[in-house]
Amino acid sequence: MWFNKKGDQSNTSNEYFTEKWMKEWFDSINSSEKYKRAAKHWNSPILLKFEPVPEKLKENESVGFYLDLKYGECLDIKFATSEEESMAQIILTADETTWIRLIEDKKDPTMMIMKKKLTLDKGSIVMLSTQRQAAKALLETAPTYRDSKQQKEFITEIKEKQEKESKHSSFTTIQKGLDFEGFPMKLFQKAKVYGIWNPADIDLSRDREEWKQLQDDEKEILIHLSGLFLAGEEAVTVDLLPLIQVIAAEGRLEEEIFLTSFLWEEAKHTEFFSLFVRDVIGYQPDFQQYHKTHYRTLFYEKLPRDLNRLKLDHSPIAQLKASGTYNMIVEGTLAETGYAAYHKMLTDNDLLPGMQEGIIKLKQDESRHIAYGLYLINRLLDQNPGYRDEFENHLEELLNDATNIIYEIFEPYDVVPFGLEKEWFLEYALKQFQHRMDKLGY
Ligand SMILES: [Fe+2]
Ligand SMILES: [Fe+2]
Repeated sequence: MWFNKKGDQSNTSNEYFTEKWMKEWFDSINSSEKYKRAAKHWNSPILLKFEPVPEKLKENESVGFYLDLKYGECLDIKFATSEEESMAQIILTADETTWIRLIEDKKDPTMMIMKKKLTLDKGSIVMLSTQRQAAKALLETAPTYRDSKQQKEFITEIKEKQEKESKHSSFTTIQKGLDFEGFPMKLFQKAKVYGIWNPADIDLSRDREEWKQLQDDEKEILIHLSGLFLAGEEAVTVDLLPLIQVIAAEGRLEEEIFLTSFLWEEAKHTEFFSLFVRDVIGYQPDFQQYHKTHYRTLFYEKLPRDLNRLKLDHSPIAQLKASGTYNMIVEGTLAETGYAAYHKMLTDNDLLPGMQEGIIKLKQDESRHIAYGLYLINRLLDQNPGYRDEFENHLEELLNDATNIIYEIFEPYDVVPFGLEKEWFLEYALKQFQHRMDKLGY
């Protein structure tokens, strides 16, 4: 397992020779100008045969790949059965490892036949030699999951980064002093005033009494929402660190100083919801049942994926995507909508005063977190305007997850307790999102 420059994990041999790989190859051949030119006289279907046949090909009752090639174009690629084997005019045979090496190292297949690494089971070597450039260009178009040159560059980059970070060449406070007028330090001043509340000081005794008087369906929706917030707050606590490390590594001291309060506050939010479970609900319900498909996609997969990518990839687009997922979608769209739900259930009905108090404090903290996110995104987009479209596409994909989560929340209820309405929340979520997009100049 290794990571390419984009931070994608690639498990090399497992991803080769699958249906997906085959489709990618088909597209790659037909979009290669080099292949089109080199193979303009090639009119012979070819079979790339595997001996022994790997399990994944056996599953498709196949012995290899059949490529229907005509004058610089690939008309079809399919898993080859014995029928295709009889149609192929050229059959090249090798084991799986050799095929992978051939593809990854962009070897010349004609040369490989001469070296006896590859067997020509059908067709003439003379014919293949005349089409040598075409055969080479064909293999060059095959998708690869390991590029040794790129891998080396990547390792060098990591080493340089480690070396740079293993010593201090200067200190901000010594060279120019802290920028007290900049936005990050102003946010930090606010955090020290409004963010110092203690979850353990919030009185939950009236909540505990009122909880006993609630209807079962009212308890149910409050437990449901708590189950989403508990894991949500824990996830943002756990997943924020890679972003802080990138900011620190870039020497943005003022931002890092603010981020210390950010992480501390997320930890307190996790504590607050946990106290509510312990002291008001009074037992640990089966929260897991409320984590449905779309919730899992966002909180179990995409949030940690986008933040943890920063451990290896500090690029502006990686930072944009991480902040987009974290600040724009999880905090700015979903958490905000969740607070609105608490407000409608509790404040409008004068219920659970401790929970109401906690939500007000949380919301204040979140407004600073989102404000920082917008600052960060604006800074990155100003310096890298070329990423605007890619970033927008990323947000659209995640907004889709977020709205699906809202659908998912309302799904189990025929009549939603406290008179909540799905449409109102969807509209609210979209309004929050749009409001932030406006601030980013979209
Ligand atoms: Fe939070
Ligand atoms: Fe937050």
